[in-house]
Amino acid sequence: MYQSKIAGLGKYVPENIVTNEDLTKVMDTSDEWIQERTGIKERRHIKKGDGNTTAVMGYKAAKTALERAGIDKNDIDLIVFATLSPDYYFPGCGVQIQELLGIGTCPALDVRNQCSGFVYGLSVADQFIKTGMYKNVLVIGSENHSGGLDFSTRGRNVTVIFGDGAGAALLTRCEETDKGILSTHLHSEGKFAEELSLIGPSTNKWVPELIEENPQEDIPYYPYMNGQLVFKNAVVRFSEVIMEGLNHNKLTPNDINMFIPHQANLRISQFIQKKFKLDDSQVYNNIQRYGNTTAASIPIALTEAWEEGKVKSGDLVVLAAFGSGFTWASAIIRWA
Ligand code: ACO
Repeated sequence: MYQSKIAGLGKYVPENIVTNEDLTKVMDTSDEWIQERTGIKERRHIKKGDGNTTAVMGYKAAKTALERAGIDKNDIDLIVFATLSPDYYFPGCGVQIQELLGIGTCPALDVRNQCSGFVYGLSVADQFIKTGMYKNVLVIGSENHSGGLDFSTRGRNVTVIFGDGAGAALLTRCEETDKGILSTHLHSEGKFAEELSLIGPSTNKWVPELIEENPQEDIPYYPYMNGQLVFKNAVVRFSEVIMEGLNHNKLTPNDINMFIPHQANLRISQFIQKKFKLDDSQVYNNIQRYGNTTAASIPIALTEAWEEGKVKSGDLVVLAAFGSGFTWASAIIRWA
């Protein structure tokens, strides 16, 4: 058995800043409502013509992660790509990244676990490295939410939350057995699948059927979220999956040096921070600047925390996510 570690991190967010004030010009909302309920001040949106797509942003983040890891693109054994907003219905973005990076051929796998996607991807990468099958695995989370949101008042409870961006981590085999990814913990509960979802168009509900069901209205091809149910489940599942990871490694919340929660809502992060009695220096939040970037949120936050010197060798870093599915997951890392 081998251990895996994160050898390089990267992020990319589009330059275009969309403030809460900007959103008030297209829908009935306010800076006060958004900040009070979510903590978000602004987010980044792809601008038409800036060349960004989910795959392109993922590629930019991945390039930085590779450079920082000092690993040649041709030494990548596997690409794992997490997103809920792929460029195409099929194929997935993993193969686009392989092409954009200029790798002749290599395996590429797409993960469809929404806000938990990056931690799921990390877990997949970790298992391949643990068994010795692969040495270097590139894990990417990237989202182009702005391309699929309802910017009218009807969509305000969802649209104000989400932003675009990408983050990436290069995982490699770790020589020290007590460092790297100690464990990952994955869960799902499909009975809540439709509570945070985009149901159609899909093979099960194609465009003519959607029009037939909604003759007087616009086709409902925007995301739906039962916000309060998501919130209630999130705070419970976040706590459970963090404790599961800590218990598994015979650790306690006191051992945490840096907690990086999926940036779903600042109020959720603050609830967890209080519950685990962590001070501000032990939790990294950037939702204020980027909104919820789903699969990209943890790798963007982890990259920034590392860039700011807040993640150092020997630190216990805990990642945790909850989102659509419902799915939730954690990763317990002793930073190498
Ligand atoms: N601006 C102004 N008013 C709004 C807005 C808005 N943007 N959105 C909703 N409202 C109104 C509603 O219409 C409602 O008005 P009413 O009382 O007159 O009917 C009122 O505000 C309260 O609406 P709620 O939906 O009950 O608001 P809540 O306090 O639950 O906050 C929120 C909504 C922020 C979405 C919250 O529920 C939340 O953060 N949920 C969790 C989100 C999350 O974690 N998602 C998971 C990750 S996402 C993924 O996996 C893809």
